[in-house]
Amino acid sequence: MTTRAKKTAVLAAVMTVGFGGAAMAEPDLDAKLVINDELEMTTIVEPAPYLDGALDQVISGWHFRDAATRAMEMDDFENPAMNFVEDGLAAWDAVDGTEGKSCASCHGAIEEGMRGVRAVMPKYNEEAGDLWSLEEYINDCRVNRMGAEAWNWDKTPMKVMTAAIGVQSRGMPVNVAIDGPARPYWEQGKEMFYARTGLLQMSCASCHEENYGNYIRADHLSQGHLNGFPTLRLKKGSLVSTHNRLFGCVRDTRAESYPKGSAELKALELYVASRGNGLSVETPAVRP
Ligand code: HEC
Ligand code: HEC
Repeated sequence: MTTRAKKTAVLAAVMTVGFGGAAMAEPDLDAKLVINDELEMTTIVEPAPYLDGALDQVISGWHFRDAATRAMEMDDFENPAMNFVEDGLAAWDAVDGTEGKSCASCHGAIEEGMRGVRAVMPKYNEEAGDLWSLEEYINDCRVNRMGAEAWNWDKTPMKVMTAAIGVQSRGMPVNVAIDGPARPYWEQGKEMFYARTGLLQMSCASCHEENYGNYIRADHLSQGHLNGFPTLRLKKGSLVSTHNRLFGCVRDTRAESYPKGSAELKALELYVASRGNGLSVETPAVRP
């Protein structure tokens, strides 16, 4: 479908069907996410004070998926995303670029070097004087430290690397900083989250705050958290990057979206990530 056709489809869904009741399946809030029978994940937390009571509880997207999809995320042998993680682990050790280095040359084993990194992204980079997403840190190392080419944020090499780095934080609480120099970015992202745009005057909050638990066509609406990214989309058989998801959801609310990697999507990423502070990192999560 073209962008316009997709947009029309979403609008049509809302206008003709509206938000369906949750009669078919409430999110199963009693379900427990334990990975490989040993790693217990925190999937429901108290909202942070800065959410100003907007949510009663913060609930991972995992709860909104059907039992079969949820089960896949509970076992690495069943989780198709683990194949992509394997590719990322191989790339970590692969020499690339004019300097003859791999990621491991400087960072050592990924398990140690990248532990906890995903949980605090995006974060303010003092040296650059800007908010950086994980992808930006990776490309900075590739271009300026390895003499290699930057990876497209939405292509396989980057997605398998962010998955391999992300899984090193699995089970750790999302903990993005929103104070100090990060504050203006967070404010910008918050404004974007609540801005009602487009024909239907919808905001992110219209779907993910006011209607989570309801259906929009076949989709069971979650609270729109980022703790499982990059996620595996079963429908596509590939990983979906953070900015791919944000790009698509922004596009659903307005005529134009912002480019992946843009300042706008990074600010939105920070705000959306902060709404999920305290949830366990689930990377790589499984989605329909
Ligand atoms: C020549 C050495 C070198 C190479 C090679 C290198 N890095 Fe880095 N990397 C650094 C340094 C130095 C920093 C900044 C200091 C730090 O946080 O460790 C950094 C920072 C990072 C960060 C941010 C970490 C944080 O906590 O803020 C990530 C992510 C990262 N590198 C990923 C990679 C990946 C992926 C590769 C391979 C594609 C790679 N790096 C290759 C030296 C290197
Ligand atoms: C018209 C309804 C609608 C609007 C408006 C909307 N989204 Fe979504 N969004 C969805 C649907 C449907 C999904 C897939 C099912 C789910 O997880 O909710 C989704 C998924 C997501 C996810 C992935 C959640 C996960 O756990 O996999 C994120 C993050 C997200 N949206 C963020 C946003 C942001 C940020 C905005 C505002 C720019 C936004 N959405 C606006 C419908 C919407």
